[in-house]
Amino acid sequence: MEDVGIYRDRFVPRLVNVACGMKANEPLRERVCAGLSGRVVELGFGSGLNVPFYSDATVSVSAVEPADLGWKLSAPRRAASRVPIERAGLDGQSLPFSDSSVDTALSTWTMCTIPDIEAALGEIRRVLVPGGTLHFVEHGLAPDPSVQRWQHRLDPLQQRIAGGCHLDRNIRALLETAGFGIRVLEVFRGRGPAFIDTQSLGVVVSP
Ligand SMILES: C[S@@+](CC[C@H](N)C(=O)[O-])C[C@H]1O[C@@H](n2cnc3c(N)ncnc32)[C@H](O)[C@@H]1O
Repeated sequence: MEDVGIYRDRFVPRLVNVACGMKANEPLRERVCAGLSGRVVELGFGSGLNVPFYSDATVSVSAVEPADLGWKLSAPRRAASRVPIERAGLDGQSLPFSDSSVDTALSTWTMCTIPDIEAALGEIRRVLVPGGTLHFVEHGLAPDPSVQRWQHRLDPLQQRIAGGCHLDRNIRALLETAGFGIRVLEVFRGRGPAFIDTQSLGVVVSP
């Protein structure tokens, strides 16, 4: 178990920094961050790869990130940021903000990893002001049933090597079940294999 902890704490944040830091992700980050405004909560801040893309209308960012190493790796990006960023919490499943206190929320490739994603989306809904928006890009369940079968098969392995990341979460269904209204949702294939590179990018609204 000790080895698992070392792998998760010392290796996975570096893996995430490199894998999620691919150039190909930058246009997606730019699009997702363009609509941010006011007080923003970023779920799964990681190594701060969204920081260069925060919109001009972003007033402050409250980062929620459990991995100390991810937070440490983000230091140069935070230092170069125009927007003030604080590490406000460690767990998206329990946010340290009062009800209706946040204007927008951001999640990039994090809904796959949070263990109780239903609880985390409930928390986002709770803290967003009515009409507040969640901006996201996430990999998840592919539309094609033959790809889905592989996603279900490979999911346990993926969870072990990628810090709890699930391959087969249905992003639209999760957001709708959490009570968000879909404003924009694009589902598309990235350049990688469909089982890991079926992307959902969009904006949902808190009622
Ligand atoms: C695949 S990484 C994505 C990181 C970052 N959002 C990006 O786009 O580069 C998933 C992130 O979710 C974080 N995470 C895992 N469990 C979490 C939780 N319960 N609450 C918030 N973040 C969590 C991980 O530590 C990791 O930084």
